[in-house]
Amino acid sequence: MEQFVPVITVDGPSGVGKGTLCARLSAHYGYHFLDSGALYRVLGLAANKHNILTDEHALTALARHLPVSFKDGQIWLTTENVTDAIRTETVAAFASQVAAIPSVRTALLAFQQDFARLPGLVADGRDMGTVVFINACAKIFLDATPEVRAERRIKQLKNQGLDANIDQITKEIRERDERDRNRAVAPLKAAIDALIIDSSNLSPDEVFNQAVAWVDQRCVDRQLIV
Ligand code: DC
Repeated sequence: MEQFVPVITVDGPSGVGKGTLCARLSAHYGYHFLDSGALYRVLGLAANKHNILTDEHALTALARHLPVSFKDGQIWLTTENVTDAIRTETVAAFASQVAAIPSVRTALLAFQQDFARLPGLVADGRDMGTVVFINACAKIFLDATPEVRAERRIKQLKNQGLDANIDQITKEIRERDERDRNRAVAPLKAAIDALIIDSSNLSPDEVFNQAVAWVDQRCVDRQLIV
């Protein structure tokens, strides 16, 4: 008998707080966690290293056998710890570029779906609820204005001792949104059955509480019935 694996999807634009929400949800429910953005970032980083960022064929082949692993909160590309290296704006741009290629997305599909294991999964990305886990029991679309997201990003960078220009960051966020929302394949959009949370004026606790109420209603009750 096929077992019901509860999957919670959290989609939304970059810098909206999906990572924070997903970490809390995954700790709260004791579920596994998939950071799909990290996958595209690792692919972008590796592609740049091998000089194949514009070679669709080679990129797809690399995506099919991407030697990436996630262990204890660290991300590895073969034996190299790339946890910090993939978080730069440059690598984000590479990721956005490779993520727009349909064959690359298809090549990464099964790898992502394989994360759906008991006791459950929290999946963070852009198309988790619309493409990768269409049968997820609870879907959330987290949003916030580009200005609010840029301010949050600046705070993050400051905490890491890095300096950044707010106008530049806002511009980069808008450009990335534009690319992610308008690309032909798996564009960023809320699934029709997703709860949309606009976090612009909400605290992380308020976002978390809304999300938990939704998940409890959509997944936990269903788990009891099954
Ligand atoms: O969430 P992030 O900033 O780490 O994502 C990096 C890039 O990867 C971003 O441009 C969008 C893309 N991405 C995607 O297309 N699909 C996903 N499921 C996750 C990320």
